[in-house]
Order: sequence, then C-alpha cells, then structure tokens
Amino acid sequence: MKSAKPYIEEHKQRFLDELIELLKIPSISADPAYKNDVIKTSEAIKTSLEKAGCDHVEICETPGYPIVYGEKILDKDLPTILVYGHYDVQPPDPIELWDSPPFEPVIKVTDLHPEGAIFARGSCDDKGQMYMHIKALEYMTTTGQLPCNVKFMIEGEEEVGSEGLVWFVKRNQEKLANDVILISDTGMIANDIPSITTGLRGLSYVEVEVTGPNRDLHSGLYGGAVANPINVLTKMIASLHDENKHITIPGFYDTVEELSAEERAKMAEVPFSKEAYTKALDIEDIYGEEGYTTNERNSIRPTLDVNGIWGGYIGEGAKTVIASKAYAKISMRLVPDQNWEKITELFTNHFKSIAPKGVTVKVTPHHGGQSYVTPIDDLGYRAASKAYEATFGKTPIPQRSGGSIPIVALFEKELKSKTILMGFGLDSDAIHSPDEHFGIWNFLKGIETIPQFYHFFTEMSE
Ligand code: BES
Ligand code: MN
Ligand code: MN
Repeated sequence: MKSAKPYIEEHKQRFLDELIELLKIPSISADPAYKNDVIKTSEAIKTSLEKAGCDHVEICETPGYPIVYGEKILDKDLPTILVYGHYDVQPPDPIELWDSPPFEPVIKVTDLHPEGAIFARGSCDDKGQMYMHIKALEYMTTTGQLPCNVKFMIEGEEEVGSEGLVWFVKRNQEKLANDVILISDTGMIANDIPSITTGLRGLSYVEVEVTGPNRDLHSGLYGGAVANPINVLTKMIASLHDENKHITIPGFYDTVEELSAEERAKMAEVPFSKEAYTKALDIEDIYGEEGYTTNERNSIRPTLDVNGIWGGYIGEGAKTVIASKAYAKISMRLVPDQNWEKITELFTNHFKSIAPKGVTVKVTPHHGGQSYVTPIDDLGYRAASKAYEATFGKTPIPQRSGGSIPIVALFEKELKSKTILMGFGLDSDAIHSPDEHFGIWNFLKGIETIPQFYHFFTEMSE
C-alpha cells in the first residue's frame, strides 16, 4: 500500500484545524450541565464521518448519550473492521491548574513533543485519537485505497461507565458484526519505541460511607468518648495493604494469573529508567508491591487505590468538630482472571467486617468491568505489527496497559471478536489531568499507520 504521508503533509493544517474545533466543545459526560455540548459533539462526529466517506451514518439513541454509527461496506465477502472510540471527555477539574483553558486548544512545544502538542481536554483521550481514524478513512476513500469494509461506533459515555453502549451492543450484534475491532484509546512507550497494547486491566469502583454519631459533635465535649468516623475510615483504609503493599482482602489474589518466568523476562526487556520516572513525577523513589517491577506493578498486578476522601470541616480556619460521616471512593484495578463482581463482593464483605463497634459502614458499588488480553499470535495483532513496521521502521513491543476500557471484554463476549489497541498517546500526555495534550507527530503518525493496518489485515485475511 502507498504511504499516506504525502496526503497527510498536504492536508495537515486542515486536519489540525478540524480537531481543534472538535476539542472546543466541552463534552463532559459526568456533568449533566454539559448535556447539550455532549449531544452537539455527537452531531459533529456524524458530519465528519459523512465527509470522510461513510455511506451511511446515524445517531443511535440509547438510555444515555447517543452512539454515532457509520459504515462503508464495499463487498460482503471482504473483511470488516469495527472502529470504536469515545467523544466524551473527563471533567477538567481542578481547572485552576491548567496553564491554558481546557476547551481553548493551543499548540505548544514540549521536551517530548518537539513538533508541538495540542493542549486541551480530550486531545489525547479520546477525541484526538478517535479523529485519527476519521482522517485515515478520509485518506483511504478519497485516494481509492480502502481495502475492506469499515464500521464506526463512537460513544459518549466511556468516562462514566458506557451503560448506553452496553445496551446498544447487546441489541445490535448483527449490525456490528465484524472481523476485528480497532481502538486508539491507549498509549505507546515512546515515539521512538512503538508498542501495541495487548492488555487492559479490569475495574471495580466502590464508594464507602462510615457513619458514627447521628450528628456532628463538639470535638471537646465528645472527643475520645465516641468513634470518630474519619479516624475509623482512615484506619480501615490503611489496613487494606500490608507492609509489603499486598492487598489484605481475603481471597483477593485467589484467581490472579501468574505470569511465567519467561513472560516476566520478556516484560523486563521493556526499557524503564527509574531516574527518568521519578524525575518526571518529582518523587524521591518508586513505591509498590514487593517482588514486582514498576512495569509489572502497573500492568499485570491488581491494585487498590483511594481516589477521593472527604468528611468533616475543610473550610477556612479551624472548626472543632467530630463529623457524623466520612466517605471515600476506592478503585481496584484487576487483572486476568479476577472477576470484577466477585471482587466487589469480597471487598464489601471484608470492609464491613473490619468496622469497629460504634460505626456503621455502607458500601455502594459504582461501575466495573473485566480485564482483557489480546494474544500476539492473533491475526489482528500480526497485521498491526506489520503496520507499525511500515511506518515506524521498527517492530512494536507488545505491552499490557494499566488502564481500563471495560467495554472491550464485553465486545469479545457479545461480538465474538478480538480488539486491537493501537494507541498513539504517551503516559506523559496527562490524560485525566490538567494540561492534557497530544503530540502533533503522534496524531499524524496514527493517521499514517491506520491505513496500513487495513491493508495488512485484509491481505492476511485471504
Ligand atoms: N482511554 C482510557 C483508558 C486507558 C488510557 C487505557 C491509557 C490504557 C492507557 C479511558 O478513557 C479511561 O479513562 N478509562 C477509565 C475507566 C472508565 C470505566 C472510567 C480508567 O481507566 O480509569
Ligand atoms: Mn479513553
Ligand atoms: Mn479516559
């Protein structure tokens, strides 16, 4: 297949301008105040799919935000690629920590992005990466190089648990029938060390509430004589890890897949600089489960982290008070073959069992999902590997990621196909954080590599 480079070079400015327009719409799925903007974004995606050459595009309603579905079917006998992405973004908070406003995209040069990066919420996760697929389609249709059928399914609730998509997928197996699913919503090791994501962690997300006395109390009159929910909650949380940073919930590790010495040796070949890692985060040392490397801790090992904790007085100055309630939000990242519903149950039972007398504990599960692994002997993986070889001039490294896209395991269950995760972001691109950005080089490299995948996947399917 011809290189897309000349086409990309010619249309580069327009591609960037279009992406910038899309990034200006604050499609924050978590906050109902942005409902109109989320809907507006789905309409913008519909228009861009039509312009890129889809024959049929529709906005499919769900109980939640709509799914934009588009397709171009050349011939029933050719393979079909299903592209998935999401047009919703994380809330930008804390907004005051952004150097430039999150929905006013600007291009700035950074150490890792000497050709410039677009700074905006959603630039990398996932509008920028999803848009690479739309521009790759435009290239293939306008130059007559689309080798197979393609379907697009772009959702607006990924950041809040994909409930509408679950509903949609279960009802539309035939419409969504495909030979491989292609997603760019992950990262790669570095611009000169291409990698393909071969695994995603599962997730169990819970909220806990500890209640002590029936009202807030004077901390002098009652202090020391009743259980303080905040003291109790923090102690309970602290007990969830032992001194080796193992999680103490009984049964938590029972089904965890142990990698062979050979697989771990292969992982250890992935470059890691402790110095660069600690420097980039401004921390004195790395930290984590005894017996595992950093690359293992954030990919093949399960974790438990408090994501937020609150209660009591946090206003100006001092208020002497024992709060009636204390709360925390806790995420557990899961690995094969942990079942997220089982883990949620183990957590709930354990957390309630360690509560001292004098408080009551409530655990509310939020969302969750299963982990996922793509085998490297899979046809899709092999085609992706060849695509990277063609555009990076290097064989990509397979790498399991620590993040989660819970819907991917459901795709396998409902649509019976494997997902290839061709992510072009970097861990340092600050997704979900202030100053999220996406390298222009990465954006264009993605547009260049995607058509190669179409080509090799079609050729190797014969
Ligand atoms: N795109 C991310 C997931 C991701 C990022 C995976 C980088 C691997 C590498 C996705 O949008 C996301 O943020 N997922 C959430 C889970 C979801 C249920 C809210 C996550 O991982 O926290
Ligand atoms: Mn994402
Ligand atoms: Mn995300």
